[in-house]
Amino acid sequence: MKKKNSRIICWSTAAVLAGSLATPGFGQEFGPVPKIEVNEAKAALGKRLFFDVRLSGDAAISCATCHNPEKGFADGLPLAKAYPGSEGFRNTPTLINTAHKASWFHDGRIGTNLNDVTRESITETYSMNMDMRLMQERIKQDPVYVEMFQAAGYGEPSNGSVRKAIPEYLKTLISRGSPFDSAKMSPAATRGFALFKGKAGCSSCHSGTRFTDDTPHNTGVPENPEIWSNPLRHITFVTFANFLGIENYMNIRRDVGAHIRTHKVDGSDIGKFMTPGLRELTHTAPYMHNGMIGSIEEVVAFYNAGGGKDPNMDARIKPLELSAEEQTDLVAFLKSLSGDPLNGEEHVWPEKINVNYSAIEDWLSKKN
Ligand code: HEC
Ligand code: HEC
Repeated sequence: MKKKNSRIICWSTAAVLAGSLATPGFGQEFGPVPKIEVNEAKAALGKRLFFDVRLSGDAAISCATCHNPEKGFADGLPLAKAYPGSEGFRNTPTLINTAHKASWFHDGRIGTNLNDVTRESITETYSMNMDMRLMQERIKQDPVYVEMFQAAGYGEPSNGSVRKAIPEYLKTLISRGSPFDSAKMSPAATRGFALFKGKAGCSSCHSGTRFTDDTPHNTGVPENPEIWSNPLRHITFVTFANFLGIENYMNIRRDVGAHIRTHKVDGSDIGKFMTPGLRELTHTAPYMHNGMIGSIEEVVAFYNAGGGKDPNMDARIKPLELSAEEQTDLVAFLKSLSGDPLNGEEHVWPEKINVNYSAIEDWLSKKN
C-alpha cells in the first residue's frame, strides 16, 4: 500500500532555500504539492455539483456543508454531522490535496479512485443518503446542468458523469502560497523543520510533498467518548461496523480503524489510521480521525509525551524530550505549511444555485 511518489517535482528555489529537502534514508522528498491539470468545463460542472444540496436525499446538505471552503474544506467540528437525523463518528478531513491520495477515508478503506469515494459520499445513508437514479432525474430537470453537461462533453446528465465531474473539481484543490513553499519561513519554523526531520522523528511517517506516507499507523490517539455516549453517533458506527464485517460490533467501544479494511486475525491493525497530510492545518482544527486534539500546540505536546496508550502503538511513537522552545519551533514549522485559503471564486460556486427554474414540460416522455 505504500505509495512511491514517482512524479517529477519542480523545485522552487524557495523550497530549496528552506533547508535540505531530502530525508536521509527515506524515499519521498519535500516540496510544493504538484498542480494537477484539469478539464475546465468538467471541473466547473463538478464545482456546481459540490455546492448543490439537491445531491442529498432530502435536498438539505451538499458536499460543502461538511467540506466547507471557509474551514479548509473541513467543518471545524471534532466529529462530523451526518444526514439529517443521524450523526457521524469521524472527523471531516480536508479535501485540499485529496486528489493526490491513493486511498481515502481515515481507515483507507477506499483504495481505488475518487469516482468511488464520490459515489460513497452521495449514497451512504449517514452521508447524503441519495439514490443516484433519483439524483440523475433531479439534475436533468435543471436547464443549467443540461447545458453544463453538454459543454463538458458528457452529453445528457447522468449519475456516471456526476461521479467523474466532482473528482475533476477536487483536482483543483491544491495547496498554494504557504511560507514553506515560498521561502518565507521564520527562523523558528526553519529550526522546527530540522527537528521534524531529526530529533522529533516526524518525517518517518509525514514525508513527501503532502507530508504523509499514505499508510495507516497506530499513534494511540484516545477514543472520543462522544461516539459511545451519543446514541445517534453510536448507531451510525454500529451500522458501519456491521456492514463491513467487524465481529462483535454491538459490544466494541472503540473505532477499529484500518482493521475494517485489513481484518488481521491477531488484531494488530486495530486502531491504525491513515497518516494525514500536514498541509493547511491552521484552517482545519480539530485534529485526528476523531477530533480529539484541538490545537497544533496540543498535537506537538501529545507526541512529546510519547503519544497515547495502545498495545498496537507504533514503536516510533515515544517520549521526545523536546524543550518548550523546541516545541514552539515545531509548531511554527507546522503552521508554515498552511497557505492561502481556497475560498474565492476559483474554488467556490459563486452564486446561490437557483432551484426555481420552470420544470421541463412533459419530461417523462423526453428521451433520457
Ligand atoms: C455529512 C458530512 C459530509 C458530507 C455531506 C460529505 N462528506 Fe466527505 N467526508 C466526511 C467525513 C466525516 C469523512 C471521513 C469519513 C471516514 O473516514 O470514515 C469524509 C471523507 C471524504 C473524502 C476522503 C478524504 C480523505 O482524505 O481521505 C472525500 C474525497 C470526500 N469526503 C468527498 C466528499 C464529496 C465529494 C462529498 C459530496 C458528494 C462529500 N464528501 C460529502 C463528511 C462528509
Ligand atoms: C508512526 C508514524 C507517525 C509519526 C512518527 C508521527 N505521526 Fe503524526 N500522525 C500519524 C498518524 C497515523 C496520524 C493520524 C492519527 C489519527 O487520526 O488517529 C497522525 C496525525 C498527525 C497530525 C494531525 C493532522 C490532522 O489533520 O488531523 C499532526 C498535526 C501530526 N500527526 C504531526 C506530527 C508531528 C509533529 C510528528 C513528530 C513529532 C508526528 N506527527 C509523528 C503518524 C505519525
